[in-house]
Amino acid sequence: MAQFVCSRCGKTAPLTTRASHCACGGLFSLDFTPPPFSLELVDRSEWSIFRYRKFMPLANDLWRGITLGEGMTATLPLDEKLWVKLDYAMPTLSFKDRGAAVLVWLCRTIGVDRVVQDSSGNAGNSVAAYCARAGIGCEIFVPKGTSPKKIAMIESHGAKANVFDGTRDETADACRAKVREEGLYYANHVYNPFFYQGTKTYLYEVYEQLGRIPDNLFIPVGNGTLQIGCELALRELKEAGCIDRFPHLFLVQSERCAPLFGAGKMPRRITPEPTLAEGIAIGKPMRGEEILNSGYPGERTVILIPEQGILPAREALAKKGFFVEHTTAAVYAGYLAYCKNHPIKGDALLSLCGAGLKSEH
Ligand SMILES: Cc1ncc(COP(=O)(O)O)c(C=O)c1O
Ligand SMILES: [Zn+2]
Repeated sequence: MAQFVCSRCGKTAPLTTRASHCACGGLFSLDFTPPPFSLELVDRSEWSIFRYRKFMPLANDLWRGITLGEGMTATLPLDEKLWVKLDYAMPTLSFKDRGAAVLVWLCRTIGVDRVVQDSSGNAGNSVAAYCARAGIGCEIFVPKGTSPKKIAMIESHGAKANVFDGTRDETADACRAKVREEGLYYANHVYNPFFYQGTKTYLYEVYEQLGRIPDNLFIPVGNGTLQIGCELALRELKEAGCIDRFPHLFLVQSERCAPLFGAGKMPRRITPEPTLAEGIAIGKPMRGEEILNSGYPGERTVILIPEQGILPAREALAKKGFFVEHTTAAVYAGYLAYCKNHPIKGDALLSLCGAGLKSEH
């Protein structure tokens, strides 16, 4: 039976806990070992991320009433060296649906009837949609300046959008204060490790589609929910013998907000400057220390996105048929800037993680 374990003091908590973290202040990780990954255990009759449910800690079938058909996104060649995975083709138009579907399964399973969450927009869209489907009340804190389309989407699902007059980090602080004061359930993509049980399916799918994992993965990192999911999946795939080496991970951050760039064991203290890449404008990543010290067995490099490259990258992708949001274009801009000076060995994969219509300001 899976349980939460404090990543700082090791104390355990049952999955039914309403606490968002351990009493010592540490964040929870998940004590859960899936069976060795094998395509034979994938339920090929299920057209959502829940086809991989044998590798998730799901104790019941409530996911059937929660899934919106997330996942199953195409992985296509952009050119002879670069694959793109179309994670913007999701029910709420971003990769966050992978995590939110599993997190809301947990909320429903343990009988939570109201949640709060903070977000730059996409995770909030996602949690709001899945809560609507599951019949759970929802309030999302977003920072002032969040794209109006994201706010409208949150409200359209019947959730309350609380637009906070502050930065992304201050908005998270305000939301957490509400969680503490009112004892609410914090359905947060960074705190709750169930979210990573969803984001890890990003690479399960790539493996199922290509029969391998590309040599280099370019991953946007704000709080690192895709990054952490990728490392989980890679360790599982390697242990199961599906892959024989770990790909090179490129953690892509904005040059205007890069607490992991040049960091040692702790994220650097920085003051974020405004960037078009709103999805990764995280100055204080809550799992930053965990990401830096994850002991990833392969190569890992933090790279920077030139702000000036974002709009041209967005246009270039649109000219090839992919209309993505600024944060996604930013990852492509980071890839292009890096490749200019550093030839990469083998092929690469990039997540097209958010849709263009959402980031029209
Ligand atoms: C489109 C998009 N890409 C990337 C990210 C970064 O995700 P994370 O903060 O979990 O690293 C976000 C987060 O909101 C996002 O909306
Ligand atoms: Zn603890």
